[in-house]
Amino acid sequence: MAVSVAREHWSSRFAFLMAAIGSAVGLGNIWRFPFVTGENGGGAFILIYLITTTCIALPIVIAEVMLGRMGGQSPIGSLMQITRKHKKSVFWVLMAWGGTLGAFVVLSYYSVIGGWALKYVTLAASGTFGNLNGESSGEIFGAFIGDPMALIGWHTLFMGINIGIVIWGLHKGIERAVVFLMPLLFVLLVGMVFYAASTPGFERAVDFLFTFDFSKVTSNTFLMAIGQGFFSVSVALGAMMTYGAYLDEDVSIQNSAIIIVIADTGVAILAGLAVFPLVFSFALEPSAGPGLIFVTVPIAFGQMDAGLLVGTAFFVLLSVAAVTSAISLLEPAVAYMEEALTWSRKATAILVGGAAWTLGIASVLSFSDWSDFYPLAPLGVLVNQTVFDVFDFIVTSWVQPGVGIMMAIFAGWVLSRETVLDALNANDPNALWFRAWLFAVRVVCPIAVLLVFAGAVWPDFVASMMPNGGE
Ligand code: PHE
Repeated sequence: MAVSVAREHWSSRFAFLMAAIGSAVGLGNIWRFPFVTGENGGGAFILIYLITTTCIALPIVIAEVMLGRMGGQSPIGSLMQITRKHKKSVFWVLMAWGGTLGAFVVLSYYSVIGGWALKYVTLAASGTFGNLNGESSGEIFGAFIGDPMALIGWHTLFMGINIGIVIWGLHKGIERAVVFLMPLLFVLLVGMVFYAASTPGFERAVDFLFTFDFSKVTSNTFLMAIGQGFFSVSVALGAMMTYGAYLDEDVSIQNSAIIIVIADTGVAILAGLAVFPLVFSFALEPSAGPGLIFVTVPIAFGQMDAGLLVGTAFFVLLSVAAVTSAISLLEPAVAYMEEALTWSRKATAILVGGAAWTLGIASVLSFSDWSDFYPLAPLGVLVNQTVFDVFDFIVTSWVQPGVGIMMAIFAGWVLSRETVLDALNANDPNALWFRAWLFAVRVVCPIAVLLVFAGAVWPDFVASMMPNGGE
């Protein structure tokens, strides 16, 4: 039986914001957002992303942080407390289990990609990018990810850093890391954008990112935008709930959530403004896919004057962003284990981090020995997807939307209006923001998420309902 653990609280609202923004801003913004935007046609995707993130992801972030503060424990512990106190079915604890396990799975592969970022810091700093072309850059990347021992080494280092920070706890570990690392990240990113603005491709990049070409919009654009938004703002995996549990009563959750989402979106767009000018200046392919920043961007670094410096800064930035996200992926399960096993933080962080590390080996091998192993192919689904792809797909297409819809319905329909008003410190039930939020969690989010599911199960049917037939 899990016990309640006395929890430390953030030492300031700033510390909470830095940690939450640190969770949100990660590989999702700097690695995933540019290539997903590139593959989905640029500006129109960004516009849809802004709409879906504001109307769907933001309201669920508010609900999630609120549930965390109400329970004051790990996600699972919090939902147990809330359902008991308000006499609701224990069924709802399932969302916390889903989120915690989902975060654990993401952590296992996130750490592998985080390891790539660390490795690329050393490649950039040692001048390896000088005189790269498309072929040699692809070869370097291919040789690296095809070498399991190298990948395991960097994965181990990345996971070790995370475990270390989480062991130090909320004040000495997480807070100290984020209040230093997040401003650093911001400065590095703005520096990168300034540099990018001086390259000839800047204008084309701005055009690409901000011209709304709706002929490229399909049903898939919406699904990709919603999925990207959920992943990017760290919603529905218990990370925001855990950070909400350490939040003081008097901090406004809605205002904080708005700041978190704006910062996260701002960084994603800045990352686009840092990456695409290089892509265009050096005649690279904007739709190069997941290899975009690992294969194409190093070519640009190799050709530019201050490439050694800018390239190193870029991969340091990526590593920092990845670390501050990964700690929020580790914390939910560590917090739960503290309650369930009553072990020390050190022991639980090593146990959970070690388990995620072990699972991560499967993702490591997905790029080499297991690159032809498609675990779900016998079931006739995801037939050409490796273990790494399957993990990513299951979490972002099923767990996050599923847990997200449960959070929305629980906050919007299951808990009473009075309970929710009280939990959000809102004294005016007629306030516009409150009514808008309630409408979003009651109606907009559930419908949108059901569409995401429908899109995953019957892609052709959903596509056929779109204006241009999903072409
Ligand atoms: N938001 C992080 C990113 O964009 C990933 C993440 C998802 C972190 C969910 C925590 C929880 O990289």
